[in-house]
Amino acid sequence: MDKTGKVKKLGVALALGAGVVYWTWRQSQRAEKQAPEISTAEAQKLLEQAAPLLRLPSSPDHEPEVLPDGAGLRCPVTGQILPYREGILWLLEGDERERTITQQALDTSLSAWAYDAARGWIVRALGALDFDQDAALTQERLRVEAGDVVLDLACGHGNFTVEWAKRAGDDGLILGLDYSPAMLEQAVYHIRRWGLRNVLLIHGDAHALPFADGALPKINCSGGFHQFPDLPQALREIARVSAPGAVLTTSTFAEGKNDPRAGIKRWFKRTVDLHFVPLVKLGEQLTALGYKDYTWSLLGGWFGYAAAIKT
Ligand SMILES: C[S@@+](CC[C@H](N)C(=O)[O-])C[C@H]1O[C@@H](n2cnc3c(N)ncnc32)[C@H](O)[C@@H]1O
Repeated sequence: MDKTGKVKKLGVALALGAGVVYWTWRQSQRAEKQAPEISTAEAQKLLEQAAPLLRLPSSPDHEPEVLPDGAGLRCPVTGQILPYREGILWLLEGDERERTITQQALDTSLSAWAYDAARGWIVRALGALDFDQDAALTQERLRVEAGDVVLDLACGHGNFTVEWAKRAGDDGLILGLDYSPAMLEQAVYHIRRWGLRNVLLIHGDAHALPFADGALPKINCSGGFHQFPDLPQALREIARVSAPGAVLTTSTFAEGKNDPRAGIKRWFKRTVDLHFVPLVKLGEQLTALGYKDYTWSLLGGWFGYAAAIKT
């Protein structure tokens, strides 16, 4: 076959592949619309349960007021309304902050769906743990039990959020916070699909967490640290909102001790803002913020797992 024939064949294959991806995505969007919503009474209950833990930037010393019918929150100082709509508490509406390339990459409904569909393949290709193994390893440190309150930071499409919500049960409360509306919408789908009533999804920013000082006993952040533009600031916020004895678990693209791939990893940080978090330094940062019992491991050379306890 001549060169033009090969190019034509490749074009047809790519067009077919794109068609299959688009069709699958459209089907999943349809399924999303069919998942049952939670009632206004359930939304109200969720917000009332979460309100004592929540703090808005405009009123850091006051608990926000819960609006009737689970419609959202009101700032007790400015009167600003923060709506709860389509399964999400929207705290960043009108936020004009510039987002990094990696943040933008996961903020369309197509890319959020593709991430959800392909995450298993990606972690396997990187030699990291698959979801069940990752959740089991994290659970060894996080120990989520019935009635627990857990923050799933950078919850994305809600894979870990669903896992913790099932373990925490009806008396528990799982707060899933993410910066990407598209990823949160994907999480709404999974939470409804599993019929979970104990999850409050929040559109928020890890660099300015909307929680009271010392409010949270368990925080998990899977796949988030490598995306945060200012990880030290996010760590300060995590430490601020953590209760004494609180557990922090994380998995992230990471750099190990004397890492042979440090050069390429730092190149990723410079070019696409994908941070390979140096795990030894992370331990030092957490210790300086009052954490103890830091443990870490790097699997497959790319992906790291770490945990620590707030004193
Ligand atoms: C790779 S995904 C991880 C999703 C999921 N936790 C997992 O383990 O598959 C990274 C997530 O971090 C979120 N993210 C990035 N910057 C953030 C920020 N400043 N605050 C909160 N979430 C952020 C992105 O929107 C994205 O959903």
